[in-house]
Amino acid sequence: MKYVIGNWKMQLSVTESNRLAEEVTQLIGAWVGGADVTVVVCPTHLGLVGVSSVVSDTAIALGAQDCFWEDRGAFTGEVSAASLKDIGCSYCLVGHSERRQYLGETDEMVNKKTAALLRLGITPVVCVGETREEREQGKREAIVTGQVRAALRDLRLVGTQRLIVAYEPRWVIGSGKPVSPTDAAEMHHLIVDTLHQLLGEDVTNRLCSVIYGGAVDSSNVAGFMAVPVIQGVLVGGASLKPQEFQSLVAAVADRQS
Ligand code: PGA
Repeated sequence: MKYVIGNWKMQLSVTESNRLAEEVTQLIGAWVGGADVTVVVCPTHLGLVGVSSVVSDTAIALGAQDCFWEDRGAFTGEVSAASLKDIGCSYCLVGHSERRQYLGETDEMVNKKTAALLRLGITPVVCVGETREEREQGKREAIVTGQVRAALRDLRLVGTQRLIVAYEPRWVIGSGKPVSPTDAAEMHHLIVDTLHQLLGEDVTNRLCSVIYGGAVDSSNVAGFMAVPVIQGVLVGGASLKPQEFQSLVAAVADRQS
Protein backbone atom coordinates (compact mmCIF):
# COMPACT_ATOMS: atom_id res chain seq x y z
CA MET A 1 0.00 0.00 0.00
CA LYS A 2 1.33 3.45 -0.96
CA TYR A 3 0.29 6.70 0.69
CA VAL A 4 -0.42 10.15 -0.68
CA ILE A 5 -0.98 12.56 2.19
CA GLY A 6 -2.04 16.11 1.31
CA ASN A 7 -0.98 18.68 3.90
CA TRP A 8 -3.12 21.77 3.28
CA LYS A 9 -1.29 23.68 6.05
CA MET A 10 -2.97 27.05 6.84
CA GLN A 11 -3.46 27.84 3.16
CA LEU A 12 -7.25 27.67 2.89
CA SER A 13 -10.32 29.14 4.56
CA VAL A 14 -13.01 26.77 5.80
CA THR A 15 -15.10 27.47 2.68
CA GLU A 16 -12.10 26.88 0.42
CA SER A 17 -11.29 23.65 2.24
CA ASN A 18 -14.80 22.33 1.66
CA ARG A 19 -14.59 23.29 -2.00
CA LEU A 20 -11.21 21.60 -2.49
CA ALA A 21 -12.46 18.46 -0.73
CA GLU A 22 -15.46 18.37 -3.08
CA GLU A 23 -13.28 18.84 -6.17
CA VAL A 24 -10.80 16.19 -5.09
CA THR A 25 -13.63 13.79 -4.28
CA GLN A 26 -15.14 14.33 -7.73
CA LEU A 27 -11.82 13.76 -9.45
CA ILE A 28 -10.51 10.71 -7.63
CA GLY A 29 -13.29 9.48 -5.34
CA ALA A 30 -14.71 7.06 -7.87
CA TRP A 31 -11.54 5.06 -8.49
CA VAL A 32 -9.14 5.63 -5.64
CA GLY A 33 -10.77 3.02 -3.41
CA GLY A 34 -9.89 0.30 -5.91
CA ALA A 35 -6.27 1.40 -6.29
CA ASP A 36 -3.31 0.35 -4.19
CA VAL A 37 -3.01 3.80 -2.68
CA THR A 38 -4.37 5.43 0.46
CA VAL A 39 -5.15 9.13 -0.02
CA VAL A 40 -5.36 11.32 3.07
CA VAL A 41 -6.25 15.02 3.17
CA CYS A 42 -5.22 17.20 6.12
CA PRO A 43 -7.11 20.50 6.44
CA THR A 44 -6.83 22.89 9.39
CA HIS A 45 -8.58 21.90 12.62
CA LEU A 46 -11.53 24.14 11.72
CA GLY A 47 -11.62 22.77 8.20
CA LEU A 48 -11.77 19.18 9.47
CA VAL A 49 -15.45 19.30 10.39
CA GLY A 50 -16.72 20.25 6.92
CA VAL A 51 -14.17 18.14 5.05
CA SER A 52 -15.07 15.17 7.22
CA SER A 53 -18.63 15.23 5.92
CA VAL A 54 -17.48 15.68 2.30
CA VAL A 55 -15.14 12.65 2.36
CA SER A 56 -17.05 10.48 4.83
CA ASP A 57 -18.57 8.10 2.25
CA THR A 58 -15.52 8.00 0.03
CA ALA A 59 -12.19 6.17 0.08
CA ILE A 60 -10.41 9.44 0.89
CA ALA A 61 -9.24 9.47 4.50
CA LEU A 62 -9.14 12.42 6.87
CA GLY A 63 -6.03 13.60 8.68
CA ALA A 64 -5.23 16.43 11.08
CA GLN A 65 -2.09 18.55 11.11
CA ASP A 66 -1.47 18.38 14.84
CA CYS A 67 -3.03 17.31 18.15
CA PHE A 68 -2.58 17.62 21.89
CA TRP A 69 -1.64 14.59 23.99
CA GLU A 70 -4.24 14.74 26.78
CA ASP A 71 -7.84 13.73 26.07
CA ARG A 72 -9.27 16.75 27.92
CA GLY A 73 -8.36 19.34 30.54
CA ALA A 74 -7.18 22.88 31.10
CA PHE A 75 -5.10 23.27 27.94
CA THR A 76 -6.35 26.49 26.37
CA GLY A 77 -6.34 26.53 22.60
CA GLU A 78 -5.40 22.88 22.15
CA VAL A 79 -7.33 20.13 20.34
CA SER A 80 -7.11 16.60 21.68
CA ALA A 81 -6.45 13.50 19.64
CA ALA A 82 -9.68 12.20 21.18
CA SER A 83 -11.66 15.05 19.54
CA LEU A 84 -9.97 14.33 16.23
CA LYS A 85 -11.04 10.73 16.53
CA ASP A 86 -14.55 11.89 17.30
CA ILE A 87 -14.90 13.73 13.98
CA GLY A 88 -13.46 10.93 11.89
CA CYS A 89 -9.71 11.53 11.63
CA SER A 90 -7.72 8.39 11.06
CA TYR A 91 -4.33 10.08 10.52
CA CYS A 92 -2.52 12.98 12.17
CA LEU A 93 0.75 14.71 11.33
CA VAL A 94 3.13 15.05 14.27
CA GLY A 95 6.26 17.18 14.52
CA HIS A 96 6.02 18.82 11.12
CA SER A 97 9.12 20.97 10.63
CA GLU A 98 7.01 24.16 10.54
CA ARG A 99 5.72 23.34 14.03
CA ARG A 100 9.23 22.51 15.22
CA GLN A 101 10.49 25.79 13.74
CA TYR A 102 7.70 28.27 14.55
CA LEU A 103 5.97 26.75 17.58
CA GLY A 104 8.83 25.22 19.49
CA GLU A 105 7.62 21.66 19.11
CA THR A 106 10.18 19.43 20.82
CA ASP A 107 11.02 15.75 20.41
CA GLU A 108 9.42 15.15 23.80
CA MET A 109 6.13 16.70 22.65
CA VAL A 110 6.28 14.65 19.45
CA ASN A 111 6.69 11.52 21.58
CA LYS A 112 3.67 12.35 23.78
CA LYS A 113 1.49 13.17 20.77
CA THR A 114 2.54 9.99 19.01
CA ALA A 115 1.64 7.99 22.12
CA ALA A 116 -1.78 9.65 22.40
CA LEU A 117 -2.58 9.01 18.75
CA LEU A 118 -1.56 5.35 18.92
CA ARG A 119 -3.65 4.88 22.06
CA LEU A 120 -6.70 6.24 20.22
CA GLY A 121 -6.15 4.23 17.05
CA ILE A 122 -5.19 7.22 14.89
CA THR A 123 -2.14 6.64 12.69
CA PRO A 124 0.61 9.14 13.53
CA VAL A 125 2.56 10.57 10.60
CA VAL A 126 5.77 11.47 12.39
CA CYS A 127 7.73 14.08 10.42
CA VAL A 128 11.51 14.08 10.64
CA GLY A 129 14.24 15.82 8.68
CA GLU A 130 17.44 17.80 8.91
CA THR A 131 18.10 21.46 8.08
CA ARG A 132 20.42 22.37 5.22
CA GLU A 133 23.02 23.47 7.74
CA GLU A 134 22.85 20.15 9.58
CA ARG A 135 23.26 18.31 6.29
CA GLU A 136 26.25 20.43 5.30
CA GLN A 137 27.86 19.69 8.65
CA GLY A 138 27.47 15.95 8.02
CA LYS A 139 24.89 15.57 10.81
CA ARG A 140 21.83 14.47 8.85
CA GLU A 141 22.01 10.80 9.86
CA ALA A 142 22.41 11.64 13.54
CA ILE A 143 19.62 14.24 13.47
CA VAL A 144 17.09 12.09 11.67
CA THR A 145 17.73 8.86 13.59
CA GLY A 146 17.68 10.91 16.80
CA GLN A 147 14.26 12.33 15.90
CA VAL A 148 12.89 8.87 15.12
CA ARG A 149 14.26 7.41 18.36
CA ALA A 150 12.88 10.30 20.41
CA ALA A 151 9.44 10.14 18.78
CA LEU A 152 9.12 6.44 19.57
CA ARG A 153 10.67 6.47 23.03
CA ASP A 154 9.02 3.79 25.20
CA LEU A 155 6.40 3.05 22.52
CA ARG A 156 5.38 -0.27 20.99
CA LEU A 157 2.92 -1.03 18.20
CA VAL A 158 0.25 -3.60 18.94
CA GLY A 159 -2.94 -4.89 17.33
CA THR A 160 -4.22 -2.63 14.57
CA GLN A 161 -1.89 0.28 15.34
CA ARG A 162 0.07 1.68 12.41
CA LEU A 163 2.88 4.21 12.13
CA ILE A 164 4.04 6.38 9.25
CA VAL A 165 7.36 8.23 9.33
CA ALA A 166 7.71 11.07 6.81
CA TYR A 167 11.25 12.04 5.86
CA GLU A 168 11.26 15.70 4.85
CA PRO A 169 14.59 17.53 4.38
CA ARG A 170 13.60 20.85 5.90
CA TRP A 171 14.97 23.36 3.43
CA VAL A 172 13.35 21.51 0.55
CA ILE A 173 9.81 22.06 1.84
CA GLY A 174 8.04 24.63 -0.33
CA SER A 175 11.16 25.14 -2.48
CA GLY A 176 9.91 23.40 -5.63
CA LYS A 177 13.21 21.47 -5.74
CA PRO A 178 13.14 18.03 -4.13
CA VAL A 179 16.21 16.01 -3.28
CA SER A 180 16.84 13.16 -5.70
CA PRO A 181 15.05 9.83 -5.18
CA THR A 182 18.47 8.23 -4.55
CA ASP A 183 19.25 10.78 -1.85
CA ALA A 184 15.84 10.27 -0.23
CA ALA A 185 16.25 6.47 -0.46
CA GLU A 186 19.46 6.59 1.60
CA MET A 187 17.62 8.25 4.44
CA HIS A 188 14.64 5.93 4.08
CA HIS A 189 16.91 2.91 4.50
CA LEU A 190 18.42 4.49 7.58
CA ILE A 191 14.96 5.18 9.05
CA VAL A 192 13.83 1.62 8.33
CA ASP A 193 16.98 0.28 10.05
CA THR A 194 16.24 2.49 13.05
CA LEU A 195 12.65 1.22 13.18
CA HIS A 196 13.97 -2.36 13.03
CA GLN A 197 16.10 -1.65 16.09
CA LEU A 198 13.27 0.05 17.99
CA LEU A 199 10.25 -2.04 17.05
CA GLY A 200 11.65 -5.21 15.50
CA GLU A 201 11.74 -6.22 11.85
CA ASP A 202 8.42 -8.00 11.80
CA VAL A 203 6.49 -5.08 13.33
CA THR A 204 8.27 -2.60 11.07
CA ASN A 205 7.51 -4.58 7.92
CA ARG A 206 3.86 -5.16 8.82
CA LEU A 207 2.85 -1.95 10.57
CA CYS A 208 5.19 0.88 9.55
CA SER A 209 5.64 2.89 6.34
CA VAL A 210 8.27 5.47 5.51
CA ILE A 211 7.26 8.20 3.06
CA TYR A 212 9.04 11.17 1.47
CA GLY A 213 7.99 14.82 1.59
CA GLY A 214 9.38 18.05 0.19
CA ALA A 215 8.54 19.63 -3.18
CA VAL A 216 6.76 16.56 -4.52
CA ASP A 217 4.51 17.16 -7.53
CA SER A 218 3.02 15.22 -10.42
CA SER A 219 6.16 15.69 -12.53
CA ASN A 220 8.59 14.14 -10.05
CA VAL A 221 6.51 11.71 -7.96
CA ALA A 222 7.10 8.71 -10.24
CA GLY A 223 10.84 8.93 -9.58
CA PHE A 224 10.23 8.53 -5.85
CA MET A 225 7.67 5.80 -6.30
CA ALA A 226 10.12 3.79 -8.41
CA VAL A 227 12.20 3.25 -5.24
CA PRO A 228 10.62 0.41 -3.21
CA VAL A 229 11.72 1.74 0.20
CA ILE A 230 9.76 4.98 -0.46
CA GLN A 231 6.22 3.98 0.39
CA GLY A 232 4.40 7.18 -0.36
CA VAL A 233 4.58 10.95 -0.30
CA LEU A 234 3.61 13.87 1.92
CA VAL A 235 2.56 16.72 -0.33
CA GLY A 236 2.08 20.40 0.50
CA GLY A 237 1.71 22.88 -2.38
CA ALA A 238 0.72 20.32 -5.02
CA SER A 239 -2.14 19.04 -2.86
CA LEU A 240 -3.92 22.40 -3.12
CA LYS A 241 -4.53 22.19 -6.89
CA PRO A 242 -7.21 19.61 -7.66
CA GLN A 243 -6.03 18.60 -11.16
CA GLU A 244 -2.42 18.49 -10.08
CA PHE A 245 -3.32 16.38 -7.05
CA GLN A 246 -5.36 14.05 -9.27
CA SER A 247 -2.37 13.57 -11.60
CA LEU A 248 -0.08 12.98 -8.66
CA VAL A 249 -2.35 10.37 -7.09
CA ALA A 250 -2.80 8.72 -10.49
CA ALA A 251 0.97 8.50 -10.92
CA VAL A 252 1.33 6.86 -7.52
CA ALA A 253 -1.51 4.45 -8.32
CA ASP A 254 0.17 3.84 -11.71
CA ARG A 255 -3.03 4.80 -13.50
CA GLN A 256 -3.83 7.18 -16.40
CA SER A 257 -5.45 10.35 -15.03
P1 PGA B 1 5.72 20.99 -0.12
O1 PGA B 1 5.41 20.73 1.44
O2 PGA B 1 5.19 19.79 -0.86
O3 PGA B 1 4.97 22.25 -0.46
O4 PGA B 1 7.19 21.10 -0.26
C1 PGA B 1 5.58 19.47 2.02
C2 PGA B 1 5.25 19.48 3.49
O5 PGA B 1 5.41 20.50 4.16
O6 PGA B 1 4.80 18.47 4.05
